[in-house]
Amino acid sequence: MATAIQNAYKDATLTFTDDKITWHCPVTNDTREVMMDWEQPIMAKMAELTVSEGDHVLECGFGMGILSDAIQARNPASHTICEFHPQVIEKAKTWASGKSNVTIHEDKWWSLFGETGRYDAILMDTYADDDLHAKFRQFCVAKIAKGGGKISWWNFSGGDSDEYMKFYWEDGIEFTDVSVSPPTNTYYNRSVYKVPVKTLTPPATGRGIISDANITMWHGGIKDILSVHNHYITTCADPSDSTFVNQQSGRSISIQGKGIYNINNGLLKVTGNHPMIIKRSGSWIEKNMNELVVGDKLFKKDRTEVEITQIDFDSSETVYTFARVLIDHNYFANNILMKGGSDA
Ligand SMILES: C[S@@+](CC[C@H](N)C(=O)[O-])C[C@H]1O[C@@H](n2cnc3c(N)ncnc32)[C@H](O)[C@@H]1O
Repeated sequence: MATAIQNAYKDATLTFTDDKITWHCPVTNDTREVMMDWEQPIMAKMAELTVSEGDHVLECGFGMGILSDAIQARNPASHTICEFHPQVIEKAKTWASGKSNVTIHEDKWWSLFGETGRYDAILMDTYADDDLHAKFRQFCVAKIAKGGGKISWWNFSGGDSDEYMKFYWEDGIEFTDVSVSPPTNTYYNRSVYKVPVKTLTPPATGRGIISDANITMWHGGIKDILSVHNHYITTCADPSDSTFVNQQSGRSISIQGKGIYNINNGLLKVTGNHPMIIKRSGSWIEKNMNELVVGDKLFKKDRTEVEITQIDFDSSETVYTFARVLIDHNYFANNILMKGGSDA
């Protein structure tokens, strides 16, 4: 049914008047509104909550261009609009004429290939859109800027509890009330509308250790973990042998992400998938950080052991800068032996 309506909509001749866009749906044999001008305060609030001057903005569904106007009023650096209905595409092109920061993608939003990590804001307001629930979350994760960004979408339920409308994002959606007075229509007849905004921070793109940790150099000094390129570092292949050797370091790269494990109140801060060397039940073994428990022991550069007494996990939206250390050998960070290896 939904696909039939989407296909029928794509082929339909739309009726444009000053206050709305309508079409006759042959599947349900009724006249439906696609967009109406009473939504103006909602569109204005969506733009206000998500778009800042200089942002790169992606808008899906041009409709009457009300949201497009609100976005433009906020001076984005770029404004990409996806629209797939042929008549609306023409309207969008006319509207975009002379606006140097606007690009029209004349197809479904889902077919916007590339552009990975480009957008500071994504505003989704399509219609009869079969792709939405299957692909929106994944699409946002791919397209949102590396440092995170804001997403808003049409809240068809108008409330704040519908998990389907929330795309099953567990938390972090903020709702802002807008008072509206719609004339009777086929899609929304309440007097309050809640604008949803999700601030999306991409998870760490790889494993890493907090970037201002110190790595032990062979000559006895220490360096910030992000500056280990082409130096000799102190390594130890096996704590039960504990022979130290010097090895030329590989390099480290900076990655950003959220979610960090904090051992013993700052002794080490690493991502959950960083491999670690720990002593458990009397043996040195390898486990990922997220498998460690209080009571495990770590190996220190002074050849003593330190017991893990506290593990905290910060799951907030805070973006951390991690260093991913690309070396073939174990290394000491903050004087603790860490598992190395080219994929560490
Ligand atoms: C509700 S209107 C958008 C209204 C718009 N926010 C405004 O302020 O006027 C929905 C628009 O989405 C378009 N649309 C529907 N499915 C789409 C898709 N998959 N990709 C791009 N545009 C789509 C429709 O043709 C229509 O122009």
